[in-house]
Amino acid sequence: MDDSKLTTFTSKELIEKILKLKKQKNAVLLAHYYQIPEIQDIADYVGDSLGLAQIASKSKADIIVFAGVHFMAETAKILNPDTKVLLPDLEAGCSLADSCPREDFAKFKARYPNHKVISYINCTADIKTLSDVICTSGNAKQIVESFPENEKIIFAPDKNLGGYINKITGRNMLLWDGTCEVHDILSTEAIINLKVKNPDAKVVAHPECKAQVLELADFVGSTTAMLKYTMENSSNKYIVATETGILHEMHKNSPDKEFLIVATDETCSCNDCPYMKMITLEKIYLSLENEKPEINLPDDIMKKAELPIRRMLDISMKMNLIK
Ligand code: 13P
Ligand code: SF4
Repeated sequence: MDDSKLTTFTSKELIEKILKLKKQKNAVLLAHYYQIPEIQDIADYVGDSLGLAQIASKSKADIIVFAGVHFMAETAKILNPDTKVLLPDLEAGCSLADSCPREDFAKFKARYPNHKVISYINCTADIKTLSDVICTSGNAKQIVESFPENEKIIFAPDKNLGGYINKITGRNMLLWDGTCEVHDILSTEAIINLKVKNPDAKVVAHPECKAQVLELADFVGSTTAMLKYTMENSSNKYIVATETGILHEMHKNSPDKEFLIVATDETCSCNDCPYMKMITLEKIYLSLENEKPEINLPDDIMKKAELPIRRMLDISMKMNLIK
């Protein structure tokens, strides 16, 4: 089947075909909250990076179709070496992962031989092999605090998340100079403008945002944590400093509340990750039908990268962050 034939299928038809193929092939569709609503609605599981890693680690499916970006599908493959892991578009990368090339990071690490390395999951499998433990935005504080206070630590690749964790834990981790292009661009001006017009709204922000933005927030957390906050908090209005996709779950869980995304410019009320939005219903259908593009990694990389990911899952389990 080539792409051109797909234009004849409606979204409804594509959804029917995906659901049928999933059943036939014992496949699961895992989706991040930044996927388009139509994909979130047919996924077997929708979550943040921590939830997705945990679900992937427990998967019994023959095929995992990952509606997310490359480092997420890689993590699923590392945790399930014998499972076929499909990423419907191999170009779906991540600016944060790209900001930390292996060679440069290896040189940086060599300059600080007595430091432990904590890497944010938004990095390549190569960087994971150079790490002692992985973290996500949902457990970064607890992972950092699992090390003794005087431990010397390198945190990579997100300097905004690392800086925020330094601030709330009082640590002084060395930070790799990487950012997420979707969160780093959000400005204090855009938030203040929304706040002036909506003084009763609470501000929620993802820790990949700049420190100045986080200072304006009533709540800082991972996508799942922000979602939970908006469900439990008594306010009826929220200014949301993260990617647009999360609004779908926020609206679903709190239909009577209002959510205002912090936009990057005045032409839209959106802030989309261009990599997450490369995944479409058409591409999911094609990848399931053809069982490609598949994620494959050399065995030695898989083995070395698995260790720090498993450490993260173990610590998160012990701390009741996951069940
Ligand atoms: P979480 O969903 O884990 O908070 O991560 C956000 C993100 O940028 C994923 O790429
Ligand atoms: Fe990477 Fe940022 Fe997109 Fe997440 S939102 S995949 S960190 S570029």
